[in-house]
Amino acid sequence: MIDREAAARVLEANDRGHFTVPTDTLYPHQWMWDSAFISLGWAVLREERAWIEIDSLLSAQWPDGMMPHIVFHPPGSAYFPGPSVWQSATDPPTTGITQPPVLATVVRQLYERGRDRGLAERMARAALPRLLAYHRWLYRARDPEGSGLVAILHPWESGMDNSPAWDTALARVPPERAAVVMGDRGQERAVRSDLALVHPAQRPSNEEYRRYISLVIGFREASYNPDRLYWESPFCVVDVGFNALLHRANLDLAQLLKAVGQEPHEVAVWIDRGREAFDRLWDERAGIYLSLDRRSGRLIEVPTSAGFLPLFAALPDPDRAGRLAATLETWGRAVRFLVPSVEPTHPAFDSLRYWRGPVWVQVNWMLWQGLRRYGFVDLAARLQADTFALVEGHGFREYYDPWTGSGLGGTPSPGARP
Ligand code: DGY
Repeated sequence: MIDREAAARVLEANDRGHFTVPTDTLYPHQWMWDSAFISLGWAVLREERAWIEIDSLLSAQWPDGMMPHIVFHPPGSAYFPGPSVWQSATDPPTTGITQPPVLATVVRQLYERGRDRGLAERMARAALPRLLAYHRWLYRARDPEGSGLVAILHPWESGMDNSPAWDTALARVPPERAAVVMGDRGQERAVRSDLALVHPAQRPSNEEYRRYISLVIGFREASYNPDRLYWESPFCVVDVGFNALLHRANLDLAQLLKAVGQEPHEVAVWIDRGREAFDRLWDERAGIYLSLDRRSGRLIEVPTSAGFLPLFAALPDPDRAGRLAATLETWGRAVRFLVPSVEPTHPAFDSLRYWRGPVWVQVNWMLWQGLRRYGFVDLAARLQADTFALVEGHGFREYYDPWTGSGLGGTPSPGARP
């Protein structure tokens, strides 16, 4: 079993009062989807602290509804790219892009499981207009053509930063313009704080970072104007993971609205349109959902763990869910630990490098729920056993090698180490 006290020590060591860092030096600020998941941990220990986490995230929302992917409190750290690169002109400083929209899903769980009913009612009611404003922004800014699916404009928005699914779209981004921020080629070690903390073989490449920063420079030059960015960004992708999580968040938002006595009209429209549009992302031959490149109009034929996330959003019919489970079983014969972030026989698979192969606990947690929802109890049990074995055998780590189980990336903050 997982050592709950050790898990609690990780949270306590990362607690900064009103927000929680994912880990102290590598990620010294508040990350959006990390914080959302973290609040579920706080809910077990201290319910009030869970709501504080959500509240501090939501208080960094932009006036137009955008939820930034990093909130830079406290100011001042070696993190790259920090506020001077993003130039958001907000207080606190933030990035100008978003991250997977799991917030409404988490708020619903906090609300429904809340032992202090008064607190849960008050906090959920306060969160609802902001969650609605965020989802409205996503459809307005990222689906101006009304397709029912929203686009991401930066790989960091997927949360799965260096997934090989982004390689072709990212190749369109000119790396040269990053030089104003990153210096000439060969100088990356001087600016990339991550490379001093994690072995470079476990992080995105310098070439990818140049393109990530190039996108940021383009966005800040356009003053983050959403009406321009959708059309101008060379990277514009319908990410299957982001959209599955948005669909799930819409279902949860509708339930929350009903629970407080409000009609979820516009959310119901998003749900209907999204369900229909998702058909476009299904690959019958591969037996998995794929992302779609908005610039080329083509499906991206790189199967990743994100392609199973529609199970968590109740999207597939039973036949397709069965195909997905069969695909996942095939992956499970190729690796010791499920779920690798990329199909294990794909040429780009790399068992060590961030989102190009390693296993991530939050993805397993969501897929475990999705499998159980559809009745795949044995496969769900394997996922749970694999996840627990990784954490028990290799500690609380950012991600894990699907073959050996080795812990990779960020390590627990010093205060949490046994
Ligand atoms: C990082 O710093 O690697 C983050 O994933 C970007 O959000």
